[in-house]
Amino acid sequence: MVWCHTATRSLRGFQGFQDCLPVARKRNCNIILVGVIFKMAQPFIKIPLLDLEAQHRPIRDEIFKAVTRVIDSQKFILGEEVAAFEREIADYCGVPFAIGCASGTDALFLALMAAGIKAGDQVLTTPYSFFASAGAIALIGAVPVFADVDPVTFNLDPARVSEVLEKMPGIRAIIVVHLFGGCADMDPLIALAEKHALILIEDAAQAIGAEYKGRRTGSMGHIGCFSFYPSKNLGAWGDGGLLTTRDAQTAEHLRALRIHGSTSKYVHQWAGLNSRLDTLQAAVLRVKLSHLDHWTKARQENAERYRTLLAQSPVALRSPSDSQTRHVYNQLVIQSAKRDDLRDYLASNGVGTEIYYPLPLHLQPCFRHLAYRTGDFPVSETLSREILALPVYPELSEQNIAYVASLVHTFYSESGEHGGRGSRSTCGGLAEPRRNEALDLNLKCPEEP
Ligand SMILES: Cc1ncc(COP(=O)(O)O)c(C=O)c1O
Repeated sequence: MVWCHTATRSLRGFQGFQDCLPVARKRNCNIILVGVIFKMAQPFIKIPLLDLEAQHRPIRDEIFKAVTRVIDSQKFILGEEVAAFEREIADYCGVPFAIGCASGTDALFLALMAAGIKAGDQVLTTPYSFFASAGAIALIGAVPVFADVDPVTFNLDPARVSEVLEKMPGIRAIIVVHLFGGCADMDPLIALAEKHALILIEDAAQAIGAEYKGRRTGSMGHIGCFSFYPSKNLGAWGDGGLLTTRDAQTAEHLRALRIHGSTSKYVHQWAGLNSRLDTLQAAVLRVKLSHLDHWTKARQENAERYRTLLAQSPVALRSPSDSQTRHVYNQLVIQSAKRDDLRDYLASNGVGTEIYYPLPLHLQPCFRHLAYRTGDFPVSETLSREILALPVYPELSEQNIAYVASLVHTFYSESGEHGGRGSRSTCGGLAEPRRNEALDLNLKCPEEP
């Protein structure tokens, strides 16, 4: 009987199976047979973490027209298509200058070059991000220095940054990441950058269109860096990246650096990269940019649905939503001490999830020489163990969200835990996450039973 129950769970969503059970129960021998057949079958419902085909279908003709325009022109390097995209995205981000390049990683590298960062310089960043945030620092020969993140925003904690800056006066720049589509707490970080005369670079790869107190990502620091990797909210048909700045001189410098440091043909002011935004990608991105706001709105609505449906569950629904910031939900994440079991359970029921990021940057093998240890950044380390991203893409249906949320509830009720109690996130010995009633963050620090 227990075994049959397991089979039922793995078949959630298979219409008719539940109806067969009463009959099967009356004829004991058939229960096993039915169970064997269905246990081996794939779950009927499949909800991927991201569904780019669903995004593509309604805009296919529009994009093909734009791509055909480039093909017919046979102009594949920079040109008007890239320039037009740069103007449109500068406008979108609220800055005067945008410079396309080949990837988000190159954007970070170019930003560091333009900031004059050299081998041996120290650059502060977060240990809880995609590798590129720290990788670009190492690649230029500089030394990544880490400070822990805030348990609510998941981004650099200004208090921790301040401590590190006081201890290490040689630091020359900060790369602040707006992780998962939510902004870092920029005002105190800007104040610290001013106080210590540092270059402030925004890694907005996951946060195009996100806002902090009315200002868009990429418009608050000296240079903003964006990625158009296909899974980003504005995703290309391959790699692509972009830099933003409010400073005309920096813009000219970056424009040169992406084409071998050349200011005029065969004259090289600096040694730069070959890192241009592909013209075909610019054509694709221009079409997609015109849809970005309603995709973002759909992501936000999906996040709010999860927030409501999971309000009584033992998982802490992360990603703050408040009147001061506009979160764009490149990822919607929950925090759970049972993250790995929950992930297996969702996978066995056809739901795709992802762990961002299982190993914090200070513990990466390539940074062993920096001599950081486990325990140095407890918030980041706990998040690496407990965070799980759920599907939140714009085309996700209400029913699918309800299904995912119901699986989360079932997972906990079957493990003997119910809403509001049980093993929520451990908070891992962290400072207790702030509950900001005024802003209605709906972020709860788990209470022990
Ligand atoms: C926070 C962050 N920074 C930088 C990058 C690098 O972007 P790309 O993959 O376009 O090089 C990514 C991409 O995943 C990212 O998430």
